[in-house]
Amino acid sequence: MTRLVRIEGLGDPILQEAAALLRAGGLVAFPTETVYGLGADGLNPEAVARIYAAKGRPSTSPVILHVAGAEAAQDLVAHWPAEAQALADRFWPGPLTLVLSASALVPACVRAGGPTVALRCPAHPVALALIRATGRPLAAPSANRSQHLSPTCAAHVASSLGDAPDLILDGGPTTEGLESTILDLTGPRPRILRPGPVTPADLAGLLGPVDLWAGTADPALRQQAPGMQARHYAPRAELRLVPAGAGIGLTSERVAYVAFGVLPPLPEGVRGILLPLEAEAVAVRLYALLHDLDDAGFDRILVEHPPAGEAWLAVRDRLGRASAKEQP
Ligand code: TXA
Ligand code: MG
Repeated sequence: MTRLVRIEGLGDPILQEAAALLRAGGLVAFPTETVYGLGADGLNPEAVARIYAAKGRPSTSPVILHVAGAEAAQDLVAHWPAEAQALADRFWPGPLTLVLSASALVPACVRAGGPTVALRCPAHPVALALIRATGRPLAAPSANRSQHLSPTCAAHVASSLGDAPDLILDGGPTTEGLESTILDLTGPRPRILRPGPVTPADLAGLLGPVDLWAGTADPALRQQAPGMQARHYAPRAELRLVPAGAGIGLTSERVAYVAFGVLPPLPEGVRGILLPLEAEAVAVRLYALLHDLDDAGFDRILVEHPPAGEAWLAVRDRLGRASAKEQP
């Protein structure tokens, strides 16, 4: 049976218990500032294999190692470039994941057999305390079944993963709401593989212009960003992106309509949801909203195209993936 325990502060003995479980090869779900992670000892291949099994995750998709700071990160890489240090100084702890060439310490299953490793130092106090108490880097993908919505509270973890985690630490709702920005530093120029709370403009201040990975259509490009399937982060209901103010015909299905800034008139029976014209506020609420609409049994969720502009990049990316068709 999975235990779900509300953590009452960093002196709570449950933290030491969680660390002991992790050192023994167990799975512990924990809060980060972005989404909840499903953690295992990142240096123990058997423990990491349990993550893949619990999520139903393809073995071709590598996992992020969570560390308590730049010093711990350096043991896990073959080379720690000056840019990585500058980024860590500026953005860690925080929602920025760095892809670097892996050292021999990193098990193959963490890397999905590739030469690189993704590293992140999360800003949530519980996550940091857990990493320190365990004394290992923690492998932690989002704590949901593969291809489903990421969890922004402990209840989402329990409903998605069932009994798979040995323990779920409940640290309340997450504050960022979308997964970390992933930045690849192994190429000729820094490249964002997944947009997130740290924006291209934030990075450009330190690095100059950064490339944005173009998408998932080209299979050759897809291989350069392992695990970046087009369809991801999806609710059970069919999610469709529609032009703002699109009319909806009468329908026998249960439909929700999500608008930004202004809610158009809707047919009776269609649930209208108004989101603010503020990207960060939408990011924080988006997954919880989609979870709620799923739980309420909607068949279809129509979402207006979010506004243009860089601030909306991560929201547009996640909605695009949630609406993408299943890939062969
Ligand atoms: O905010 C986050 O990053 C959350 C919290 C729990 O830290 N974690 C998260 O993990 O979103 P996950 O596994 O759901 O997504 C991480 C993505 C994977 O889809 C994978 O493609 C990419 O990171 N990734 C991991 N290692 C990589 C590597 N070596 N090279 C390129 N991409 C990598
Ligand atoms: Mg995920």
